[in-house]
Amino acid sequence: MTLLRDHDLARAFDHASHTYDGLTALNPGYRTGLLRSARRLALPADGAGLHLLDLGCGTGASTRALLRAAPRARITAVDASAGMLRRALVKPWPARVRFLHLTAEEFATTREDEGPFDAVFAAYLFRNVTDPDAVLRAVRQLLRPGGRFAAHEYSLSGSPGHRALWSAVCRGVVIPAGTLTGDRSLYRHLRRSVVAFDTAPEFAARLTRAGLTSVRVAPVAGWQTGIVHTFLARNGNPTTTEERVL
Ligand SMILES: C[S@@+](CC[C@H](N)C(=O)[O-])C[C@H]1O[C@@H](n2cnc3c(N)ncnc32)[C@H](O)[C@@H]1O
Repeated sequence: MTLLRDHDLARAFDHASHTYDGLTALNPGYRTGLLRSARRLALPADGAGLHLLDLGCGTGASTRALLRAAPRARITAVDASAGMLRRALVKPWPARVRFLHLTAEEFATTREDEGPFDAVFAAYLFRNVTDPDAVLRAVRQLLRPGGRFAAHEYSLSGSPGHRALWSAVCRGVVIPAGTLTGDRSLYRHLRRSVVAFDTAPEFAARLTRAGLTSVRVAPVAGWQTGIVHTFLARNGNPTTTEERVL
């Protein structure tokens, strides 16, 4: 099963960037699911005084969800695809939100001084990276002690029914729509990468192995129940009273 990786994947997202928002708007629950996951971070005081990181921000849908969940936070949003970022940048954002063209791996190794972050959000990223464990190590380096992590990801429950539903939706809707926009290879990658990726219990175990704590998994509503999950965790235990409150 061939998956798109690294530069090939970034190029495929560059090409798909023109139609990405239009196609995801057809997916009932895409934006409400992102918002639900961002809100599950339970950031206090509308995010006042917090610095948040959106890894794999794409055209900014996940960044918008973070901003709605924490409207007073400072947000740094990072993505490997210049095309996706161009789409994000034409949207209106407050000055507290900025976008950087870097891979998650590059951001962790070249911008260590940007952290530590109070929370990291990664929506639909981990299934796409070559080495999810390396990215999780990077997340831990970037998070402050006790900082919060949420991944919003296509990660199947493990039940044959959910896997069959995912295959049917891809065959009937996702791949035909992606073919019409000239992005068949990306949407075939989407179908395959979900099947190849960890199930929700496996990804939760991966987070625990990476040293994250308080790992929890929550389903999203609608047709994506059992197909998309929110994964929540902490970077160890808070060390000070201030961090415990956060
Ligand atoms: C499916 S899109 C999701 C975008 C956005 N988070 C959202 O929820 O709409 C996945 C994004 O991850 C980005 N991506 C994939 N691998 C990456 C990596 N290693 N580092 C940074 N971004 C990456 C892609 O360029 C793409 O924009």
